[in-house]
Amino acid sequence: MKRTKIKAALNATGPMDEITIMGWVRTKRDNKGFSFVELNDGSCLVNIQAVIDHTPEIEAALDRVGTGASVSITGELVESPGKGQKWEVRGRSIEVLGEADQETFPLQKKRHSDEFLRGIAHLRPRTNKYGAIFRIRSELAQAIHKFFAEKEFYYIHTPIITGSDCEGAGEMFRVTSLEHGSTQPPDMDFFGKPAQLTVSGQLSVEMFALSLGDVYTFGPTFRAENSNTPRHVAEFWMIEPEMAFADLADDMDLAEEMIKYLITHIMDHCPDDVDLFAKWVDKSLMPTLENILKEPFKRLPYTEAIDILKKAKKGFEFPVEWGMDLQTEHERFLCEEQFKKPVYVYDYPKTIKPFYMRMNDDGRTVAAMDCLVPRIGELIGGSQREERMDVLQARMGEMGLSEEDYWWYLDSRRYGTAPHAGFGMGFERMLMLVTGVANIRDVMPFPRTPNSLDF
Ligand code: 4AD
Ligand code: MG
Repeated sequence: MKRTKIKAALNATGPMDEITIMGWVRTKRDNKGFSFVELNDGSCLVNIQAVIDHTPEIEAALDRVGTGASVSITGELVESPGKGQKWEVRGRSIEVLGEADQETFPLQKKRHSDEFLRGIAHLRPRTNKYGAIFRIRSELAQAIHKFFAEKEFYYIHTPIITGSDCEGAGEMFRVTSLEHGSTQPPDMDFFGKPAQLTVSGQLSVEMFALSLGDVYTFGPTFRAENSNTPRHVAEFWMIEPEMAFADLADDMDLAEEMIKYLITHIMDHCPDDVDLFAKWVDKSLMPTLENILKEPFKRLPYTEAIDILKKAKKGFEFPVEWGMDLQTEHERFLCEEQFKKPVYVYDYPKTIKPFYMRMNDDGRTVAAMDCLVPRIGELIGGSQREERMDVLQARMGEMGLSEEDYWWYLDSRRYGTAPHAGFGMGFERMLMLVTGVANIRDVMPFPRTPNSLDF
């Protein structure tokens, strides 16, 4: 089918004698002798206006057209006399591709709540706001690859089905080919042992950092944690770079550079869509983003963060104590109220972090870092990895992990071990940051959360 995308039509450099546009009708207004049709095809936020003079045939077609119908309009691209738009289409013919029953079509002109739209996740990308979200999501994914390509990081596809629990948190979905309710032992299962969906590609990607130097993985990850928060989902995407011959400071440098690069890229490449969020979703979006770009992030040892939180005159729900994991309320206090910019908290107690993080000389903290950002809290978690075989084995012993299960991981420390570091950035959380959208469910095409697997 020959058509011009509406984005291209709106950016035309001159009039066109013959143009065909196809899209979904946002509004139709009938006048005596002609009709206005506002059309959107998802290629950009802005609709194109078509003006169509009535003939008996065209009137019959227009009678079948309501909000949500899909149509093809052929005519001329001419300068628009109306203000706010440069070009419009003078339609000569209209073909109805798909009608939309006005009695039942759920997306009428009025504004709908996010909650309502979650119930029709299959139709919500037809709205301005969700169209904008998913165009930005696409651009952000491309920007991530561009960032790493420019820095000459190699893209590694790490497996999604795994036999090891990377984070050691045990919140994994099982993968099996046995029938539901089967009493067969795991060694009768597909892989001859228990299998899960990965929670992180890190352990795999470390092997490639210790071979190719600078690498990253970017793919779906899965967590069966039953936390119904606006920041957690069961299936999300994670960006995980890993650098050989690098320490925790290098890790923080890379993450900061990446966050700033991605924000700048989205502001430059999606101005209309970002503008929609700045106007309608979060009035403080632009200042928040500009503020992140402006200055170096704060770098704060965990122990100092605890002191600050203890002294804060703030009734936290979770009392603050050295050794605890920071809660979102603490994270947000640090970056929104205390420092008013992104904060790296680093050197966490070893007791609340996974086995692979590098032990500090104090023997009680590890070279971990979390990057906390306004409105979201934790955007990134990373660390320098424990490259010393004996220390790693001791840690695994302490945490009750079997060396047999991790034989291949330990081999990387046995042969040519090297300092290395990496982090994981939640893709959806980054998307929340650049759009101001407050609920992670609203930046995903079809979110997966406890008791919700529609679509
Ligand atoms: O802090 P996490 O658990 O770190 C890791 O998985 C490391 N193995 C990464 C690494 O060093 N290569 O997760 C990393 C990020 C979090 O900071 C958060 O942004 C996001 O992943 N995340 C989630 N996003 C949405 N829903 C969830 N349930 C998430 N859990 C983590
Ligand atoms: Mg974390």
